[in-house]
Amino acid sequence: MKTYNIALIPGDGIGKGVTGAAWQVLQAAAKRGGFAVDGTSFPWSCAYYLETGAMMPPDGIETLRKFDAIYLGAVGWPAEVPDSVSLHGLLLPIRKGFTQYANIRPHRLLPGVQGPLRSDGFDILCIRENTEGEYSGAGGRVHSGTANEVAIETAIFTRAGVERIMRFGFEQARARRKKLASVTKSNAQKHSMVFWDEVTREIAKDYPDVEVLHYHIDAMAARMVLAPESLDVIVASNLFGDILTDIGAAIQGGLGYAASANINPDRSAPSMFEPVHGSAPDIAHLGVANPIAAIWSGAMMLEHLGERHAAAEVMSAIVSVTAQGIGTIAGKDRTETITRAVLAALS
Ligand code: IPM
Ligand code: MN
Repeated sequence: MKTYNIALIPGDGIGKGVTGAAWQVLQAAAKRGGFAVDGTSFPWSCAYYLETGAMMPPDGIETLRKFDAIYLGAVGWPAEVPDSVSLHGLLLPIRKGFTQYANIRPHRLLPGVQGPLRSDGFDILCIRENTEGEYSGAGGRVHSGTANEVAIETAIFTRAGVERIMRFGFEQARARRKKLASVTKSNAQKHSMVFWDEVTREIAKDYPDVEVLHYHIDAMAARMVLAPESLDVIVASNLFGDILTDIGAAIQGGLGYAASANINPDRSAPSMFEPVHGSAPDIAHLGVANPIAAIWSGAMMLEHLGERHAAAEVMSAIVSVTAQGIGTIAGKDRTETITRAVLAALS
């Protein structure tokens, strides 16, 4: 039987519960699809950091490399470990180390979910550059603690990096409604963002069938609220994409529904799948985290692995559950209840 080896990193807080939920659904989907998913769990998290002094062992990346995919719950426990330490010790090194340059985040309303907008007919695919830009980590601090203190954080945009994310975005747009919105701030940032616009125009020549629109980040933020139905594929830099996908999550009813895939399109290393939400320390022990974002991310993993039918079955199960009004109101249904409903819809 075809078996996929999956590295599971439940992480912190609600990451553990939602990973457990997604894993049950993935197991069930695999059984129906006649393939197997074999999970190896890693305890890498803030608790692991407090025990060992590192978020993952020094050979963590090498350990993960041999898996077919990585499934991650959530990372962060800011009361104990600064986010800047935990994220730079686990999540961000995986995204960069495995060249998962395309972070894909779908934003649409599931049936039965009440979004905050009047408009409910939107279907947006956000493609966020995931390895460089504002998240490059280049910079430093000098004269610390003095009145002359300086902090520099340099955004790095490379031709290779912008070209590949743009091509990826155009390919996605071509397979959808053939509309690509490129997001920059080239009126204010005259080096990197003007460069991004230039590269976009060059790549666009290879995709004459795709309509290209250019937006500044501030205007796009407003458009996602005022006219989300006018958008199809959005391509944005790492930080802009991070911000826009929280808006995307908000308009789709909340972070409980926002799924994401960190894709290495060349398949030279594993891709990673994770809900957009964080570890949510405030509700971590209540058992009420909505697992739908995590399960949807699991469906994206099945799709990436080539198990399209199983992925579609999981998505239909999610849709039928929310259509019944289960998992549609924050905090109302328990993680377990929603998971059981998805499992029932699947069978
Ligand atoms: C996300 C998160 C991360 C990011 C944080 C936790 C570093 O907000 O995946 O959207 O900014 O990429
Ligand atoms: Mn974010």
